[in-house]
Amino acid sequence: QKGNYDHYMQKEIHEQPESLTTTMRGRLIHGGSKVKGVLLGGLKDHLRTIRRSRRILFIGCGTSYHAGLATRALVEELSGVPVTMELASDLLDRRGPVYREDTAIFVSQSGETADTLEALEYAKSCGALCVGVTNTVGSAIARGTHCGVHINAGCEIGVASTKAYTSQIAAMTMMALALGEDTISSCSRREAIIDDLINLPDKVREVLKLDNDMKELAKELMEEQSLLVFGRGYNYATALEGALKVKEVALMHSEGILAGEMKHGPLALVDENLPIIVVATRDATCSKQQSVIQQLQARKGRLIVMCTKGDANLMCPNGSYRFIEVPQLQDCLQPIINIVPFQLLAYHLTVLRGFNVDQPRNLAKSVTIS
Ligand code: M6R
Repeated sequence: QKGNYDHYMQKEIHEQPESLTTTMRGRLIHGGSKVKGVLLGGLKDHLRTIRRSRRILFIGCGTSYHAGLATRALVEELSGVPVTMELASDLLDRRGPVYREDTAIFVSQSGETADTLEALEYAKSCGALCVGVTNTVGSAIARGTHCGVHINAGCEIGVASTKAYTSQIAAMTMMALALGEDTISSCSRREAIIDDLINLPDKVREVLKLDNDMKELAKELMEEQSLLVFGRGYNYATALEGALKVKEVALMHSEGILAGEMKHGPLALVDENLPIIVVATRDATCSKQQSVIQQLQARKGRLIVMCTKGDANLMCPNGSYRFIEVPQLQDCLQPIINIVPFQLLAYHLTVLRGFNVDQPRNLAKSVTIS
């Protein structure tokens, strides 16, 4: 049921504080007055094997692939195991090597995506430990994997994945925490992430207040042909996922670009007409994003800067650009906050352009034929 909302996508965007709460429910372990760890029942007997893997592979399609990309760095940091990213169809096209010593993590909202399912059969035949991260209890991927985590985001009806994406990141962040729990040196980092997991639903409530601002921005952009999104680090995934939302529902060309690649081609596109959103929230890559902004300014780029609340002047001292100011969390959780304005923007652009929000042309919620 849509309740008071006009569309399922709108409802699913706005229910993220609750869906994230459900994803975490019962999984944060209390010790005295503090939460001291995470418990993922479906994984606990396999953590040792995963920690000892030679490599972890994240395998998925579309938004689910982006969720893996958003958590890749944290899994590497806390587990010490290298993570490679695989689009399911590409792994199958290449028959890329997968080994018995690998852990293959299959990320899928529906748990029924044909390419991801076929990649699961392939990885199993290669002898890898197969882990599922799905939203659908009893789905083919949930049944076919050796172990896994349900993201418990609740039923997602809009073809554009929104609340499943943020819950996938939250669930995989908990997975990274569980993988790192035997390492004393990362204890304070893990505690800080757990504290922010607890703050997460309130911070998402806060960023949802940008709804009207995003509607205004959508009015400004609705006639455009194209929109670029630059991100890096944890927010490379935000750039790819933000651009995917805009293209799949608003039917506007949009491209997510790794900011580090800007000078290797995309810079040629920059002029005073093409709108560009630069994700430059505070983290280890922030100063690099500042210099990207300066280079775009020098070419008279039409910038919209997403930055941490209070950082607008710092990011663009000489420019009168549009800003999207968002609350700050630990770097690894920031993609959950940063994607919300893009979801709202894509939603409003679609309504203003008069397209079908919940059922974009040519797309199906679950791609069961490859
Ligand atoms: O059900 P899955 O997560 O396996 O689906 C994978 C993609 O088809 C899906 O994420 C798609 O990219 C979304 N509809 C995009 O919003």
